[in-house]
Amino acid sequence: MKDLIDIASLTNQQIKDIITLAGKYYKSNKTTDKTYDLLKGKEVINLFFENSTRTTLSFELASKRLGATVVNLNLEQSSVKKGECLDDTITTISAMSPDFIVVRHGTNGAARQVAQLAHSHVINAGDGNNAHPTQALLDLAVIMQHKPNINGLKIVICGDIKHSRVARSDIEILTRFGANITLIAPPNLLPDADYIKQYNLTTDSNLQNGIKDADVIMLLRIQHERIDATNIPSKEEYYNQYGLKANMLNTAKPNCIIMHPGPVNRGIEIEQSLIDSSNKTVILQQVEMGVAIRMAVLEYLHNCNIV
Ligand code: CP
Repeated sequence: MKDLIDIASLTNQQIKDIITLAGKYYKSNKTTDKTYDLLKGKEVINLFFENSTRTTLSFELASKRLGATVVNLNLEQSSVKKGECLDDTITTISAMSPDFIVVRHGTNGAARQVAQLAHSHVINAGDGNNAHPTQALLDLAVIMQHKPNINGLKIVICGDIKHSRVARSDIEILTRFGANITLIAPPNLLPDADYIKQYNLTTDSNLQNGIKDADVIMLLRIQHERIDATNIPSKEEYYNQYGLKANMLNTAKPNCIIMHPGPVNRGIEIEQSLIDSSNKTVILQQVEMGVAIRMAVLEYLHNCNIV
């Protein structure tokens, strides 16, 4: 295994192994003893063509905690701004022999393209609306901390599912482990019928109905950067119809957890009080797990190299 491009290319055993490794790092990251020499002498290049806070910082911290040297290419000051194409950027970087390239790009398939050109391990940090595999791994790991058996869980995903790489990767990983997924979204922000059928997904246009007996509610933001259409609800309409409010939760399971990959639009996808004061909300636990999962993925790829 040279690269991590999507969840589809991982076996269930590989997913479990990465989550087990992450468990070790999740614990050590809470202590003062959180640095390792595993990647001493190795180099990681972070190449983010799209904005990011969580993924870019957690990859940088993960790499540094494992002892690697990290270089973040500032795209604004790079030759991409002079018109250099992706292939030339990657072959140039590859000629410098880094051990890992972490790439985020707005185009579906860009991470695979990078992996085909680079000699380094390539990790997809999100490509278009296609895949965000480390987000799916961290989301599964967080759910398993609360509900160790995924099989049969009711997981509701509400928001802009059509344009979400997080939703695609989460649906792939969660259905593999037997979750029943309900999608809730404005009709033009749902994925197409073939996709819904392929993953045996349920849809509902009413959030209050949809969250009945839910074990997990996962909220997504509207990805304005990927939407051409103007016929999406206004912020107020969206909040009224699809925003999760505290007083709705009485029909969900009592131990239901609320997730959001971030960044959150407060008061649009979710009521403010649910972010700040609900013991059901695990958004910061997702961020915490993000560092651990990225440490685990780096170790896993490094070990594959040795074997
Ligand atoms: N969840 C996520 O990918 O967040 P960032 O865009 O901040 O990295």
